[in-house]
Amino acid sequence: MDVHESALELIGRTPLVRLRTPDDGRSAPVYAKLEYLSVGGSIKDRIALGMIEQAERDGLLRPGGTVIEATSGNTGAGLALVAAAKGYRAVLVLPDRTSAEKIATLRAFGAEVEVRPAGLPAEDPEHPLNVAARIAEQTPGAWLAGQYDNPANPGAHYLTTGPEIWRQTDGRITHLVSCIGTGGTISGTGRYLKEASGGTVRVIGADPASSVYSGGDGRPYFVEAAGHFRHPETVEDVWPQSYHQDVVDDVLPVTDRDSLLTVRRLAREQGLLVGGSAGTAVAAAERVAAGLGPDDLVVVILPDSGRQYLSKYFDDGWLLRLGFLDGDGSAARVGDALPAAVRAQPLPYVNRRATVGEALALLRARRAGGAEPVLPAGPCPTGGERRPTAPELSGSLALDTLTRAVELGQIAPGDPVGDHLGAPLPQFGAGQPAVAALAELTERGVETAVVLHDGQAVGLIGPQDLHAVLRAAGAAR
Ligand SMILES: Cc1ncc(COP(=O)(O)O)c(C=O)c1O
Repeated sequence: MDVHESALELIGRTPLVRLRTPDDGRSAPVYAKLEYLSVGGSIKDRIALGMIEQAERDGLLRPGGTVIEATSGNTGAGLALVAAAKGYRAVLVLPDRTSAEKIATLRAFGAEVEVRPAGLPAEDPEHPLNVAARIAEQTPGAWLAGQYDNPANPGAHYLTTGPEIWRQTDGRITHLVSCIGTGGTISGTGRYLKEASGGTVRVIGADPASSVYSGGDGRPYFVEAAGHFRHPETVEDVWPQSYHQDVVDDVLPVTDRDSLLTVRRLAREQGLLVGGSAGTAVAAAERVAAGLGPDDLVVVILPDSGRQYLSKYFDDGWLLRLGFLDGDGSAARVGDALPAAVRAQPLPYVNRRATVGEALALLRARRAGGAEPVLPAGPCPTGGERRPTAPELSGSLALDTLTRAVELGQIAPGDPVGDHLGAPLPQFGAGQPAVAALAELTERGVETAVVLHDGQAVGLIGPQDLHAVLRAAGAAR
């Protein structure tokens, strides 16, 4: 019989499929390793099994025990599935940015899920990693998987992913391209392939452009689960021990727009429905292949399926709202209300650590210049070139409200504004129709909104700006 005795036997052993690339025929062939075909739907099944079985061998996890982890989803699904198959309880802590589909998947496997705010500094006690560590301390029989620092994470890829690729390509692979999250995939797979090839295989990381691994400042980005985010208030930025930089020859930055447009292309043109980090990896692999010849062979790792991101990367509304799509050019768009000169200027923005006095001075200067005295505020550093990204537009400040709070003695001019922020300003993607944005502002009675392009704030607009572009579009017709 051609059968398997449990779901655990269906982890890994994923196929390689040739991708059609823009330079196909002239450049190196690119083969994609389809990790979404593993039984739990992602590459993380491998490390879940590897880490749990190592913990069993080490006597850290015993019958009746509880598996605990802070995870953005896929490791959680892998751990929940292996825990279910082996009879353990699983408790998983996730940031609230995680897609609803991923959270529902964990619950479906019977895991208990704790959701905590995303975007907290590493030192914050409510950061998912700190919450998971606390639960592990307080739960008898608990074992914290700790994928970021657990040697069994890269170890699982050294023992499975690397040998599979070597065997499947008959030792012809010359370049491996992979995203870096914990670093487990690239470190374990890369190390095996380097050893097997006598050191000739080149290992290339694909990284969201603002992630610190490729030299970015760590600001938020929109591809889930890849890269390394650094909150501006994080004091010491610690990199995972699962990431072995000595294995990696180069790390290529890929913009969110490139990653997202690449995943959409993979689905529509090649029938491969994969997640955002696969878009990052394929965009980098295409760049690598374009510089190589037909005798080279590139393998790129596609970590998970696009099904769990249908409400994000594959939803035009989501992309349009964040400014990743340019919208319908035949009608007036929100971005048309922002002249290039305004876009080129730094966005007026208050860091939440600024004092009330500093914020009041900025708001008064705005009123004196004839603008609405309202500003977006949040954790983004101010003063440089850096523009706040959508999640950093977490609050707002209005001159009237702040002045009143000072007069009532609720807040002193030397206090930080952070505890007194109002609701975030509405956000519109530059490609959204101006008419819809105007209707929303009118309905909400709001005078200032933020315009986003590629997920970053590029300017502030009000109803009068939208009226002006609508009038101009009407006159042109
Ligand atoms: C979808 C996805 N892509 C990429 C990665 C990064 O892989 P690694 O943690 O092995 O570096 C992860 C890890 O969570 C992931 O879930």
